[in-house]
Amino acid sequence: MSKKLFIETLGCAMNSRDSEHMIAQLSEKEGYEITDDMPSADLILINTCSVREKPVAKLFSELGVFNKKKKTSAKIGVCGCTASHLGEEIIKRAPYVSFVLGARNVSKITEIIHKEKAVEVDINYDESEFAFDDFRTSPYKAFINISIGCDKACTYCIVPKTRGDEISIPDELIIREAKRAVDNGAKEVFLLGQNVNNYGRRFSGNHEKVNFSKLLRRLSKIDKLQRIRFTSPHPFHMDDEFISEFAKNPKICKSMHMPLQSGSSKVLKDMKRGYSKEWFLERIAKLRSECPKVSISTDIIVAFPGESDEDFEDTIDVMKKVRFDQIFSFKYSSRPETEAEHFTNTVDEDVASYRLTTLQNLHTDILDEKNATHLGKVYRVYFEDLNKDHFVSGRSDNNLVVKVKGSDELLGEFRDVKITQIGRTILTGELVG
Ligand code: 5AD
Ligand code: SF4
Repeated sequence: MSKKLFIETLGCAMNSRDSEHMIAQLSEKEGYEITDDMPSADLILINTCSVREKPVAKLFSELGVFNKKKKTSAKIGVCGCTASHLGEEIIKRAPYVSFVLGARNVSKITEIIHKEKAVEVDINYDESEFAFDDFRTSPYKAFINISIGCDKACTYCIVPKTRGDEISIPDELIIREAKRAVDNGAKEVFLLGQNVNNYGRRFSGNHEKVNFSKLLRRLSKIDKLQRIRFTSPHPFHMDDEFISEFAKNPKICKSMHMPLQSGSSKVLKDMKRGYSKEWFLERIAKLRSECPKVSISTDIIVAFPGESDEDFEDTIDVMKKVRFDQIFSFKYSSRPETEAEHFTNTVDEDVASYRLTTLQNLHTDILDEKNATHLGKVYRVYFEDLNKDHFVSGRSDNNLVVKVKGSDELLGEFRDVKITQIGRTILTGELVG
């Protein structure tokens, strides 16, 4: 009987891809099979996120539950960003944990499972050219890492301390991986990195200087590849060449994530984001003038230390001007080993809650108005998921989630869909082609 692996993945798409890499290595080299049933697993992995405080606190209560319900012989490993930043403290607080594996040490998974109480959290470890075995959760869309780590120094962010310096993965490896995924049936690739449009600044070996626009051009030459998505670009690196490539390359999906963080130039300076409110708005204007149909999503942090009512009004002002298609919004959460951890001018919790609610309510109104315009329109949808009640869902080029009545025959297919019903996060339609 094969050994069973249960893996829980928290956090961002980078973490999802790291989990796929761990599954690939463990199934190819160690004979593990994935299970959804934690109590029957021989190996339990939690791939953690440390970007905000709450999930970290939850980790220890969850570990306690896993420890109670698991098979006596089963091992528990803590991986990912919280593993990087807490290291051996995890084993001190939860002594039944067998090993701790940091976010930048994924390739060591097959060794560490055999080393009781090992802690591998080196953030300078370079696995940018490691040849991982192949495992993909979805056969339709292939996540591909194009860089590891992050070179920025945003004062609120723990990620440079958990994922280390930024190193780009050589373009020939990325293209080879994309070709392999396409040969296995994927029609879409989703490129991943902390700052994808900073691609090519540093490779670990000697490599041709390929920037992100060039990488996109090279990838789009893969014949059967039909769609390219990526996350996250950084507003600071949104140069004209990148915007023009994005707008003109027909294989690039017209959906852009532009993490604003704050609409106040003063707060942006305190966050060390490297751009101002005016600069952000100008880049959005440029993007929309070259690509009018683009949908734009963003990340916003409210109540960063020192954020005044006027600063928050600037964020509201940018929201009203840009009318983002999607927002991910958070209350500021103080993180260890960051510069802002030492800022003393913190914002009261009730003010923070009020600002978050105000921002989210405003966005809901914007979204309702925007969604109403989709009724009766026809979008080309790439179907990826089988839902309950005989619905199949997928995304339009500009990232609308659309479902239609249908069966698994639609999975992996592109179809034209006329929108017949509007929901906040998902639109319903019928096939017209
Ligand atoms: N507090 C709140 N939100 C944060 N993010 C990153 N660090 C923090 C923090 N300390 C948010 C940012 C980022 C997203 C992934 O998480 O908006 O873009
Ligand atoms: Fe992803 Fe950041 Fe969370 Fe790490 S801390 S998993 S990089 S969101």
